[in-house]
Amino acid sequence: MAEQWSTARVGFIGAGQMARALAKRLSAVGLVSPDRMIASDVSESALEQFAQETGSLIVGTNSDVAETAHIVVLATKPQVMADVLVELAPRLGQGKAEPLIVSIAAGISLETLQSGLAGYGRLVRVMPNTPCLVGSGASAYALGPNVRPHDERIVRELLQAVGVAHRVAESMLDAVTGLSGSGPAFVYTIIEALSDGGVRVGLPRDVATSLAAQTVMGAAQMVLETGRHTGELKDQVTSPGGTTIAGIHALERGGLRAALMDAVSAATARSMELAASAKSAKK
Ligand SMILES: NC(=O)c1ccc[n+]([C@@H]2O[C@H](COP(=O)([O-])OP(=O)(O)OC[C@H]3O[C@@H](n4cnc5c(N)ncnc54)[C@H](OP(=O)(O)O)[C@@H]3O)[C@@H](O)[C@H]2O)c1
Repeated sequence: MAEQWSTARVGFIGAGQMARALAKRLSAVGLVSPDRMIASDVSESALEQFAQETGSLIVGTNSDVAETAHIVVLATKPQVMADVLVELAPRLGQGKAEPLIVSIAAGISLETLQSGLAGYGRLVRVMPNTPCLVGSGASAYALGPNVRPHDERIVRELLQAVGVAHRVAESMLDAVTGLSGSGPAFVYTIIEALSDGGVRVGLPRDVATSLAAQTVMGAAQMVLETGRHTGELKDQVTSPGGTTIAGIHALERGGLRAALMDAVSAATARSMELAASAKSAKK
């Protein structure tokens, strides 16, 4: 089977916003041309939009995707995944197609995927986040039991087309959900609050929101590109008796650090709860 990007065919089951974002970026970064992508969806309009946005004209059924693609991205909502797996199971393994299956569905474990696919184990489970839609995602992935030697490189390169990607043990994916999965909403709240602060001291709303969002992006870029410790970067812009230390003192008094740590812990705990209730509902 061809596994090199130059010959690989990539299929998407579910042609919604995540599939389109991935397909567009895979093509834009030159990994997969639109003529080597195939998508299936129950919605005609989703398929039309996929074709329009990605330039890929190849659409088919879920089974067509499983049988023709070398890498199959499962990109339906978690609620319909059980039905999708039942449909795919007879198409995979035992002398049939043996694609690398990459699930991006939140909360669906490798064990559930493998049992739904009648034991097929060439699987990777990914937890992406919404900024994947603009090419700045933060994803983590866990490898299934029967991946092949090059599968990790394939999935890493696929995810790096839409941001950064880290391999973790599957048991850490709830923590990933709590940090980078839910994190964009935490940061939107921070940007909104900074903007409110700007308005409070007299700035027009549009200027305040633009300055707040760009400041968050710029600070994040400083962390990622300089590799310096966040404390060192903060100290560099905090002069004795100055404006920034006055603001930092207000943040510390308000308990910002503890609030953010609590937010990650609460989201992680909720992810674990949801996974446990999904598991008991199956029994
Ligand atoms: N959006 C994100 O940033 C994000 C972040 C983390 C994880 N994820 C995960 O990514 C997955 C996709 O999310 P999304 O936001 O791209 O969802 P989406 O836009 O709703 O796309 C899913 C598509 O799958 C279609 N579908 C439903 N049942 C199907 C079936 N049996 N066979 C084939 N296609 C079917 C849906 O059609 P209908 O609309 O007609 O049902 C829809 O077009 C989800 O599992 C989600 O947990 C997304």
